[in-house]
Amino acid sequence: MSKMFPTLCSPAKIGNVTLKNRILKAPQSSGMNNMDGTVSERAIRYYSDQAAGGAGCIIVEYAYVDDIGAKSAHCHLGISNNEHIPGLAWLAECIRENGAVPAIQIEHCGRQKFLGTQPICGPSAIPWPKLWDQYGIQSVPHVLTIEEIQDIVHAFGDAALRAKQAGFEIVEIHGAHGYLLTNFFSPTTNQRNDLYGGSLENRMRIYLEILRDVRKKVGPDFAVTIRLSGTDYEPDGFPIEETVELAKALEKEGIDGIHVSGGDHHTMIHQVSPMAIEVCHNAWAAREIKKHVKVPIIASGSITLPKYAEEILTTEGGDFVGLGRPLWADPEWPAKAAADRPEDIRPCIRCNEGCLERTFFTYKAVTCALNPVISREGELKIKPADKSRKIAVVGGGPAGMEFARVAKLRGHDITLFEERGILGGLLNEAAAPEFKSDILPLIKYQVTQLKKLGIPVEQRRAGIEDLDQFDAVICATGSTPIIPRIAGVDKPIAVDSLTAINKMDAIGKKVVVVGGGLVGSETALDLAERGHQVTLVELLPQIMNGVAVTDFLAYSERIAKTDMRIMTDTRLTEVLDDGIMVETKTGNQKISADTVILALGLKAEQGLYDELKTAGKEAYLVGDAICAGKIFDAFHTSYRLALKI
Ligand SMILES: Cc1cc2nc3c(=O)[nH]c(=O)nc-3n(C[C@H](O)[C@H](O)[C@H](O)COP(=O)(O)OP(=O)(O)OC[C@H]3O[C@@H](n4cnc5c(N)ncnc54)[C@H](O)[C@@H]3O)c2cc1C
Ligand SMILES: Cc1cc2nc3c(=O)[nH]c(=O)nc-3n(C[C@H](O)[C@H](O)[C@H](O)COP(=O)(O)O)c2cc1C
Ligand code: SF4
Repeated sequence: MSKMFPTLCSPAKIGNVTLKNRILKAPQSSGMNNMDGTVSERAIRYYSDQAAGGAGCIIVEYAYVDDIGAKSAHCHLGISNNEHIPGLAWLAECIRENGAVPAIQIEHCGRQKFLGTQPICGPSAIPWPKLWDQYGIQSVPHVLTIEEIQDIVHAFGDAALRAKQAGFEIVEIHGAHGYLLTNFFSPTTNQRNDLYGGSLENRMRIYLEILRDVRKKVGPDFAVTIRLSGTDYEPDGFPIEETVELAKALEKEGIDGIHVSGGDHHTMIHQVSPMAIEVCHNAWAAREIKKHVKVPIIASGSITLPKYAEEILTTEGGDFVGLGRPLWADPEWPAKAAADRPEDIRPCIRCNEGCLERTFFTYKAVTCALNPVISREGELKIKPADKSRKIAVVGGGPAGMEFARVAKLRGHDITLFEERGILGGLLNEAAAPEFKSDILPLIKYQVTQLKKLGIPVEQRRAGIEDLDQFDAVICATGSTPIIPRIAGVDKPIAVDSLTAINKMDAIGKKVVVVGGGLVGSETALDLAERGHQVTLVELLPQIMNGVAVTDFLAYSERIAKTDMRIMTDTRLTEVLDDGIMVETKTGNQKISADTVILALGLKAEQGLYDELKTAGKEAYLVGDAICAGKIFDAFHTSYRLALKI
């Protein structure tokens, strides 16, 4: 029994189903299924691992309920016909065998059909703006007739029955996130004037009809839950007050639990929030709905750490928590919480780089920036090395620390060298703005793992002369700022981005940040929010190049609240004593400043590696030392090398 998280780790019921703890894996499309919607072996391994990590219940990702317009994305899971049942039964069995209650979400995508192919269905002919931009007229939904609505209602009921036949113990109706049901619920997307449009009663009709049909087919004792967005966060969308009324009506109709999320795909930052949005972002909505119904409430969204979950559960914020990304970053999150070892949980940093970005924007299966094992379960396992070797890791950034952890677990004898007084490398600079603070628990986690594994850390610069006694050297030496050869760059007014971040107090009131990539844009935003007068200068036509989409959206909102001046298509030509000269499309001009911050990129630090190779030593590069990149690259390159060496 957990002393630290007693409520989180205590059993409770949803309908007639008892969960061993209050943790449900939130449903998340994985891109791991077969093209015809059947379950793949890869998905079986993935879900088995997720279940083995200790969650009370695994809600399998959304599964489309019909073969007409319900399928949303590539490699989407299907539950639309009996051909899908054998694979689903295999999946349910594996989840149960690994200790969790198997649940599945059933869904119709409505107008939010990533595939962009007709038929796209909706209550009204109002397209999803993203799809309109991509596909134009083809994205306009076919307006469902009453008969077609009834067919969809029955398709949900049939799908729920298939879930039950396959051995799932809970079925969750997807009534959130901008898919078909919310298209009916939201006045923005529903402009009907029949029984399914207009009044709140009419807009919620399809939810109740679906629940009735599902209940009729699965019987009174089978657990049925629904996922709702507390609000869609759209200016003319549905407010929490309407969702509360919907929740009350669903309770009356016999729902067994309500899983509360938020947003749609247009307001994605409220659904899959990046680190610039506060943690537990939609917990307020779960708390509000809980005040009005008695059925169990599952709070979800950005509940990254067990302490947040325990707080929600003990302050009337919900009865269960739904965790999505946190169980990708660390599938053993529940087991570690139960063992009172929260310090061993690898915390999701809400970067979206390994998950959302990959699946929605590059059509790949999901993985995690911090956990390359996701989608490669059973393949990328940490196994004992054939022979223990004496290995030096030079660099205590994320890449060096991750290599050290994995190689030590494999039985190697590791010594880590770090020349700065602190571990974490550039993660320290990355975590400096208040809106990047999710990175701090990651540094803490990595440092803790080194300590627990007893890996000695030499706090000094390692040169080739220090490395003779080692069988191999891992150069995790990171990257350093690029300083361009431009007149005046060595004037006292100019500083590189890393120096600036570490000496915020020394930065003048009026600042020019040169370089609108990730580092420059974030530094400019941070300074603007701290009250500096900031001009951001970028050579390309737009800023925030290389920034993840959800960060881009969150930063855009924040930038709009500052008076930051943005100059794109602008080239730095000279640093002056009191500002800079730039070349723009309309001519040259001076920008006055007290401080000039040069954020013009980073270059891989390979000096030591070159020396070692020249001397014939076994040496390897990992992380930024290969090519200045991201946390994803630091973890993935290190983990993979550590499995091989
Ligand atoms: C301001 C900023 C914000 C960022 N934000 C993000 C973000 O939001 N998301 C993201 O994915 N990435 C971000 N990054 C990039 C990310 O921080 C890097 O990709 C990552 O830190 C690289 O890890 P690493 O271990 O390879 O190198 P580093 O983190 O650079 O670590 C290298 C370490 O090696 C040490 N070292 C070097 N040579 C020696 C030597 N000879 N002896 C001893 N020690 C040595 C250095 O002191 C350093 O601590 C950001 C970077 C910066 C600068
Ligand atoms: C790649 C990806 C796929 C998702 N797929 C689904 C889904 O199938 N059904 C659903 O209700 N929510 C889906 N979501 C939303 C998550 O369930 C969850 O609400 C969101 O990730 C925020 O919670 P978290 O911070 O715990 O991850 C998805 C999120 C991501 C990142
Ligand atoms: S890729 Fe980033 S956001 Fe996604 S699960 Fe991993 S740490 Fe979390």
